[in-house]
Amino acid sequence: MIVKMTTITLTVNNENRTIVAPPMKRLLDVLREDLHLTGTKEGCGEGECGSCSVRMNDELVNSCLVPVLQAEGAEIQTVEGLALDGELHPLQEAFLENGGAQCGICTPGMLMAAAQLLAHSPHPSEAEIREGLAGNLCRCTGFVRIFESVAAAARAAESEPAKEPVMEQTHHAR
Ligand code: FES
Ligand code: FES
Repeated sequence: MIVKMTTITLTVNNENRTIVAPPMKRLLDVLREDLHLTGTKEGCGEGECGSCSVRMNDELVNSCLVPVLQAEGAEIQTVEGLALDGELHPLQEAFLENGGAQCGICTPGMLMAAAQLLAHSPHPSEAEIREGLAGNLCRCTGFVRIFESVAAAARAAESEPAKEPVMEQTHHAR
């Protein structure tokens, strides 16, 4: 079978990237295989678990459900784009300090969901944190420590005005 390839340009973690891939290749696989950004994890592969969450044009998406063609020209942020100048993002610090990660499979997706939440609700209520992370499953932590980690990161950002690295806020809503 001849697989038709297409050239796609996109921005990943603020870098312009060009790849040649089948147009229906999953964004998840392009990130991991073509761009070697293996922080984004595959869980279910069916849009159910959120492990593969990335931010795309300021929306949270399940990268296992996005054909790379759909990402043409898009601005993508993966977990590798959170740390800035070698320093962990406040969310990463908070997950470390509050036991928000155990086996770590869900963690990149949780972090991206939390980053998306805090980008739009810097001071989220507990209900907003639960809602913001509702599409992400964790089998290890029982969720409470994850929610506490996100709340702690929000508090930390409040006391220390954050360096907001990553994604230009061009779109709204989810
Ligand atoms: S791997 Fe994409 S939602 Fe589970
Ligand atoms: S830390 Fe293991 S699935 Fe969440």
